[in-house]
Amino acid sequence: MSAAPATKPRAAVSKASKAKAKSLGYKSFTAGNFKFERDEYFAHIYYPGGRHIIPVDAYLRSLMRDVGWGFFYGTVNFDNVFGTINHYGTVEMFIGLLNEAYKSTGRHYVETFDAKKLKKTFEDMLGDWTNAGFDPYAAPNETGKAFGPKKGSNLKAIQRQRMVARRMVGLPGDLPMRSDKNGMKVNPQFKDVPQDKPEIHAEKGFEKEVHAFNMFAYTSRSDVTWNPSVVSNVKDSQFCATTEEHMLPIGHGNDRVEWFIQVCDEIIWDIDDGQTGRPLAKVVMKAGDVAAMPSNIRHKGYSPKRSILIVWENNDGSLPDRHASGELKPYPVEF
Ligand SMILES: [Fe+2]
Repeated sequence: MSAAPATKPRAAVSKASKAKAKSLGYKSFTAGNFKFERDEYFAHIYYPGGRHIIPVDAYLRSLMRDVGWGFFYGTVNFDNVFGTINHYGTVEMFIGLLNEAYKSTGRHYVETFDAKKLKKTFEDMLGDWTNAGFDPYAAPNETGKAFGPKKGSNLKAIQRQRMVARRMVGLPGDLPMRSDKNGMKVNPQFKDVPQDKPEIHAEKGFEKEVHAFNMFAYTSRSDVTWNPSVVSNVKDSQFCATTEEHMLPIGHGNDRVEWFIQVCDEIIWDIDDGQTGRPLAKVVMKAGDVAAMPSNIRHKGYSPKRSILIVWENNDGSLPDRHASGELKPYPVEF
């Protein structure tokens, strides 16, 4: 995938749009030939040859994931037009590259960026455009509005620090368990998740070494949605517990196979072709279901009630090329 011809004109931002953003108190941002403005309801993306518009609440939720996950694995589609592709060091930002209509008529536009530099621009944009009271990681029912003129900020929400256990959560001297006492209450939608604790019978002398906790209970106290925090990391195996409510803010086009284990409740997935965006399937996952998302699709999930999903990622850096070249099939098993 190469950038569009350099002869294309730079993005033309209308004076009225720029003045409007300024009068509302929001900064404008530039990355290469892309220009970003926000107003009370929308994010405006200008690029050589056109402009694109995304509702600002949806835009900020997608931007939060792209920043929080360091551009993630493969493609982060903000919608069916705009997104980023991670090349692990560099990032392509695109309009219409993975949209059949834009691509076939030559209306797509792509530019490659240094990942660190683009991440900084995205972080600054997220910081400036997120108003007090709006948490892009929270379910819509649990947060204030993203709309209106600029009103304060919410850096606490968008700069959440990852908590990393040295050995295991709850061991002496390590991260404490989540509890009511430290303000990490069971989410109201997870009142049905049992909070009992496992029995631990350690041999004498091993009381500080042998440990276990109820991961369902621990996860039920997470205050973020659609955020795969790694719970175990063994070589390239990354086991990620997530809590999902409302919808995945992005259409994720992975560059490798990704496994899902639905732990409780239900998620309905839209599966579209990764390159064209053509709808391929609906997948309904109920508690106990396991699915492998192929490497050539994009997926977007809908969780009517908050649910727990385990996402299993393979961190092997050779996989994107081996899938792209056809050496590996897009799916992991044949029955
Ligand atoms: Fe995914």
